[in-house]
Amino acid sequence: MSVKSGKLVIVGAGKVGNAVLDSVLRLSIIDEIVVINRNRDKALGAVLDASHTTAFEYSTNTSIRVGDYPDCADAQIIVVTAGPSIVKGEYDRSILLKRNIEVMNGVMANITRYTREAILIIISNPLDILTYYFQKKYNYPVDRIFGTGTLLDTARFNKMLGDLCGVDAKNVTGFVLGEHGETSFIPWNTVNIVGVPFQEIGEKFKPSVPIDKEKLLNETKVIGPEIVQLKGYTSAGVSLAACRLIGAIVRNERCVVPVSTVLRGQYGIDDVAMSMPCIIGSDGISRVIELTLDEEGRRDLEVCHAHLRELLESVGA
Ligand code: 2OP
Repeated sequence: MSVKSGKLVIVGAGKVGNAVLDSVLRLSIIDEIVVINRNRDKALGAVLDASHTTAFEYSTNTSIRVGDYPDCADAQIIVVTAGPSIVKGEYDRSILLKRNIEVMNGVMANITRYTREAILIIISNPLDILTYYFQKKYNYPVDRIFGTGTLLDTARFNKMLGDLCGVDAKNVTGFVLGEHGETSFIPWNTVNIVGVPFQEIGEKFKPSVPIDKEKLLNETKVIGPEIVQLKGYTSAGVSLAACRLIGAIVRNERCVVPVSTVLRGQYGIDDVAMSMPCIIGSDGISRVIELTLDEEGRRDLEVCHAHLRELLESVGA
């Protein structure tokens, strides 16, 4: 069956699945959305609620319905949000590892029964581990399966640095790379605001307080779990990260954003998935961009790689 351009399947109708559904409707670029959930009633509730937004001017007449895995057969994009997320009292996403491998085993077995063409966007955590584990297990085309990864951390970092400098986060170019978790890192030598390199930002933008690299990186890492402690879950940022990718695929944008991908020899690594800047278009990832890292960046990359390998080995991958 050939892929139907503009058909999106969302697997999982929890907080994140619902947020993706709501956000993607505002994009007005998807013709058909199918929601799959183990408990069909939850999917039906999500679909009915979301369908009422199409009567307002901010939405288009997208077809939204409850479905099942055969709906994946001609889907262009499948967003996977299934499985538990971290909750209050949990800070480390790797706590979800065993539980979500189990959940994802079922999800991936069902998806791959119907398609290897769709672009899979993994949101479930720990997403670097899940992306690697299931790309390998199902030999899914490597350019067509990736995680939202540090696209979310990058948005958080750009917002924080932008706020410090009194500029729009969209004017900050600074990637958070590696794990969507505690060993993420920032290649500081590539950070800039409208071309002003990081070392000159203080002088040019007169930030409200001196920029402390370590503090900024640490805040970028902990803010997700901290929001979970405050409101119980996160959904707004990650759903727009997913929308950024959905938009890039549907419009064949070829934008460069960090996503979690199985590395194929970049930096000499091919045995983990982690976020690197990638060109995203209608075929998924067309290229992974290997940034030139300084010594600090290479050290951070090694720490991240070793940590991800350790987690993968704990599940026999
Ligand atoms: C986030 O960072 C918890 O991974 C989720 O928002």
